[in-house]
Amino acid sequence: AASPEPHRPQYHFSPKAHWMNDPNGMVYFNGTYHLFFQYYPDGTTWGPMHWGHATSKDMVRWQEQPIALFPDSLGYIFSGSAVVDVNNTTGFGKNGQTPLVAIFTHHNPVLEKQKTGKHEYQSLAYSLDEGKTWTKYAGNPVLPNPGITDFRDPKVRWYEPQKKWIMTLATKDRITFYSSPDLKNWTRESEFGSTVGAHGGVWECPDLFPLTHNGKTVWTLLVSINPGGPNGGSATQYFVGDFDGKTFKPYSTETKWLDYGTDNYAGVTFSNTGNRTILMGWMSNWQYANVVPTDPWRSATTVPRELGLKEVNKELFLTSVPVEELGALNQETVLVNNLTVKDRYELTAKTRNESGLFRLELSTKTAGDFAIVLANEQGNEVVIGYDKTANAYYIDRSKAGKTGFEKGFGKRHTAPRLSVDPKISLTLLVDVASVELFADGGLTVMTDIFFPDTDLTKLVIKSASGIVIPALEYTKLTSSVK
Ligand code: FRU
Repeated sequence: AASPEPHRPQYHFSPKAHWMNDPNGMVYFNGTYHLFFQYYPDGTTWGPMHWGHATSKDMVRWQEQPIALFPDSLGYIFSGSAVVDVNNTTGFGKNGQTPLVAIFTHHNPVLEKQKTGKHEYQSLAYSLDEGKTWTKYAGNPVLPNPGITDFRDPKVRWYEPQKKWIMTLATKDRITFYSSPDLKNWTRESEFGSTVGAHGGVWECPDLFPLTHNGKTVWTLLVSINPGGPNGGSATQYFVGDFDGKTFKPYSTETKWLDYGTDNYAGVTFSNTGNRTILMGWMSNWQYANVVPTDPWRSATTVPRELGLKEVNKELFLTSVPVEELGALNQETVLVNNLTVKDRYELTAKTRNESGLFRLELSTKTAGDFAIVLANEQGNEVVIGYDKTANAYYIDRSKAGKTGFEKGFGKRHTAPRLSVDPKISLTLLVDVASVELFADGGLTVMTDIFFPDTDLTKLVIKSASGIVIPALEYTKLTSSVK
């Protein structure tokens, strides 16, 4: 493309310049959504971590803010969460102010070199001006390292039944839960997972939150692992079960995946969003994040996704769908009714927009093979499809343009179809350098990034066996980047 910044996401948050990874400290406060993120302001590869900051009124249009947290004598600022301390349990609020409190990992590079195994510990910072400026707590760290090498990524929430804070922490190959009355004094409650779930890599960035299913509270535990994802590299698994303020008990120990694509990692939920549970992830993968062909920045977040639960064959699965706020980006919609695709159907140039930003919604009358091909004149293509024999969705980016920067990048990724509904329904979100597939009400999700030689503005639907699409909705989206 003629764009000065090819591959710049147009409706996903990406920093103007330099490296980012995990979303951190996402919190809704006084009408503003805050996104903090792992950030290295001196380069486009991972380095000494800071917390970058962006704010938004709608989770769709983000404004980058000055860096919130800088490394200090205790170490780099690794991943963590933020809470609104409504009851001022910390005492950080003065004269009735409500403090925003960040709970993060300090990663100490000096201790790391000395191989003490104790170089990660948890600390606090607070803000009394809506996240603009932050003060590190003088008593840091609040949770010293007990002798566990990987001891990080605290996700904290208020547990109302017992009026205490719960910290969900990644501790090497398992999760450890801690509790506290004031965020400063922590008691170990229990651990989970050393013998269940996927263990192809270290456990990172957990999150524990309640959802409601048939009027009953069900707890979900997200655990990112790297490597060991279903299609290689980093990915996020989850468990559903009960939590009593002390122990998490899963209903089933079978490994389930939040997203089968390769590019949704370290995703966690916003604090303080009432009964909505909204996740954003890092739209990359440690397998190649440091070498993707973008400049002068690296990485973006996924779109915000609302999480829920759905029962299939008596088993509970997590669902993710794009938040409705994304509708703010809608331009014209083209509706095609009763479309029979035999071989190929191309959306004409008139219905497409040059930038290739769109949402596609379709459902098929019956589940049959089909593929949606995003392409350009250079012959680059990303293929998103359903394989009936395998009963699986897939995204194939092997011919997507630039793939040679890492040997495992140019691949076809698959995801099992979990739904038993005879008809398929899906939503596809396409930005300049990413596709997010939400199939069957968000039961199967895939997120993949790609780097075409020019933007993929052609859209072709193919089906050798033939499918009937009662309704196809193509909506052009507008850029949210200024
Ligand atoms: C996950 C992660 C976290 C860590 C951070 C460091 O991607 O490895 O475990 O806190 O990134 O940047």
